[in-house]
Amino acid sequence: MDASQSNAPKSATLTIGDESWELPILNGTIGPDVIDIAKLYGQTGKFTYDPGFTSTASCESQITYIDGDEGVLLYRGYPIEQLAEPGDFLETCYLLLYGELPTAAQKADFDYRVTRHTMVHEQMSRFFHGFRRDAHPMSVLVASVGALSAFYHDSTDISDPQQRMIASIRMIAKIPTLAAMAYKYSIGQPFVYPKNELDYASNFLRMCFSVPCEEYKVNPILSRAIDRIFILHADHEQNASTSTVRLAGSSGANPFACIAAGIACLWGPAHGGANEAALKMLGEIGSVDRIPEFINRAKDKNDPFRLMGFGHRVYKNYDPRAKIMQRTCHEVLGELGIKDDPLLDIAVELERIALQDEYFVERKLYPNIDFYSGITLRALGFPTSMFTVLFALARTVGWIGQWKEMIEDPSQRIGRPRQLYTGATQRDYIPIARRK
Ligand code: SDX
Repeated sequence: MDASQSNAPKSATLTIGDESWELPILNGTIGPDVIDIAKLYGQTGKFTYDPGFTSTASCESQITYIDGDEGVLLYRGYPIEQLAEPGDFLETCYLLLYGELPTAAQKADFDYRVTRHTMVHEQMSRFFHGFRRDAHPMSVLVASVGALSAFYHDSTDISDPQQRMIASIRMIAKIPTLAAMAYKYSIGQPFVYPKNELDYASNFLRMCFSVPCEEYKVNPILSRAIDRIFILHADHEQNASTSTVRLAGSSGANPFACIAAGIACLWGPAHGGANEAALKMLGEIGSVDRIPEFINRAKDKNDPFRLMGFGHRVYKNYDPRAKIMQRTCHEVLGELGIKDDPLLDIAVELERIALQDEYFVERKLYPNIDFYSGITLRALGFPTSMFTVLFALARTVGWIGQWKEMIEDPSQRIGRPRQLYTGATQRDYIPIARRK
């Protein structure tokens, strides 16, 4: 029986002084109920205060559900473990966008539509040449995705459902092409056009690693691995970058600009940049016997160092994606004949020690998706600077799906949080001649 049928309270009573207000309690299908405070300021003249939104539901959504205590992640109700194996990334994209798993015919049609939007406008390639070669690929990706709104004016009218879907398909289709172009530009190699006969992941690997001088043969084990990595990163409820996309979209900004905002937010090391930071951290640790030194630094309040790839705002259990990522890591290293990767040895030992340490156990800090992804992506041939680009590539479907859900929500309004003001009270201007 869910809470809506039980005798659970239908409202919460807020009492301030000798006044009381009833605040409605809303029930979801699963997960915590919410206290509806939309009218709180009008009724009480007071705001709620929740920096970092640790206890705040910003929206209603039907896309992704996370149970942080149990380590559960559902895309439209399907456990990530069940989607990451038999299906492929475009099946997950269809599921996130349309809400149901596709039939064979629907999947074939969706694959066809995405495949035929993978090319970008030819002038985009000139856009890249304005960057220095050593520009971080994330800076190139943010800029090039934002620039898409300069090319695709026929899919920026967000009030038109058809344009919203075309923009969604275009974003999913073109993000691998732009990501590969950012990589090729950074290493001074020519751009590679997509090939329609290849699947999404194979197409991406070929656009990244093929060169004009020889045929590129896709390794099916590796393309399956990168496809699965995309599935793991596809969506994750109202994380920082998804909330950024929703807030940007709430003003009516075009979808390409909203996705560019999400990429910018994902770049931070506390979020999507953690995969790049985690691999750098493993390199800095350098050997298994230096792990205790870094564990102590992570626990030292006076040291800003944190174990990158560890901890999560929602997961207070093992991130289910991290387990699948760890298995994929071993699969990729095995396929590539990498018998002992010293960084993997450090990662496995670091995890073992941390999970037994009272500091991490007490704070429920477990490896998250970023802990093993860096080792895997490096083994696949990507430089560290491309790790967050790959995260952004995969998360684009989640961002665009959440953006679409928000735009299509009849109760949608522009997001405009308030504040607790602790600055100067009103005072009069003093002409500069009289200032001391
Ligand atoms: C992603 O939100 C999402 O869903 C994100 C994501 C997605 O798919 O979109 O899952 C992807 O961003 C995963 C997280 C990647 N980031 C990292 O791995 C960076 C390292 N992790 C931390 O910075 C931290 O754990 C966060 C940012 C992930 C979460 O921070 P919170 O929820 O604000 O937790 P907190 O900073 O309040 O930490 C609680 C306590 C603190 O100690 P006390 O003040 O209670 O003594 O835990 C400590 C923190 O100091 N702590 C860590 C730690 N993470 C938290 N101590 C050492 N190393 C860490 N990694």
